[in-house]
Amino acid sequence: MRKRSAKIRRCTDDDFNVVYSIINEAAQAYRGVIPEDCWKEPYMSKEELRHEIDSGVLFWGYEEDGELAGVMGLQQVQDVALIRHAYVRKSKQRKGVGEKLLLRLRRHTSRPLLVGTWADAVWAIRFYEKKGFRLVSQEEKDRLLRKYWSISERQIETSVVLAEEKWFDQQSQIEG
Ligand SMILES: CC(C)(COP(=O)(O)OP(=O)(O)OC[C@H]1O[C@@H](n2cnc3c(N)ncnc32)[C@H](O)[C@@H]1OP(=O)(O)O)[C@@H](O)C(=O)NCCC(=O)NCCS
Repeated sequence: MRKRSAKIRRCTDDDFNVVYSIINEAAQAYRGVIPEDCWKEPYMSKEELRHEIDSGVLFWGYEEDGELAGVMGLQQVQDVALIRHAYVRKSKQRKGVGEKLLLRLRRHTSRPLLVGTWADAVWAIRFYEKKGFRLVSQEEKDRLLRKYWSISERQIETSVVLAEEKWFDQQSQIEG
């Protein structure tokens, strides 16, 4: 049997259309799950994706046999780093692609990682919990989403934030 070749690499401008297609394919998981007024098609337009990249979201991709199977973005904001837009093609999900991408992003920053996702995306919450993230309190997530993200009030209301233990440790040091 032919051996599959796989690697994680930074996405370039040449990958723009593939990144766009992976995001919108995988985002179908939200359809009928997140509040109806938060869903649209495409889930992320090309203009929105361009805006995210221009705002400093760096994408990494998991490439298998020359084709991207999943992408994950990292955005450094103030004193933290945000995991942004983590999407794996449907046929490639639950095979460890998301985990490998997360581990790679982890190596690219010493800042604590935060991630925001829809409160209804229970599988995504489970994914991050399995990788050592923990949900922050309701009060804290509103504060964090306003401080580090640029999203609508409606999205703040319908989202959760998970943080690494490292972030919780830093918070308890600040609070003394
Ligand atoms: C969330 C996501 C990025 C994870 O990537 P992945 O390659 O599937 O994840 P891994 O294989 O590394 O980890 C799998 C674990 O994630 C969770 N998970 C991922 N997809 C799941 C699903 N459809 N149903 C239930 N659990 C799921 C489970 O805990 C799973 O572990 P298990 O298979 O042992 O039960 C990917 O599933 C995805 O693109 N989902 C749709 C879009 C999305 O929710 N993105 C998150 C944005 S923050």
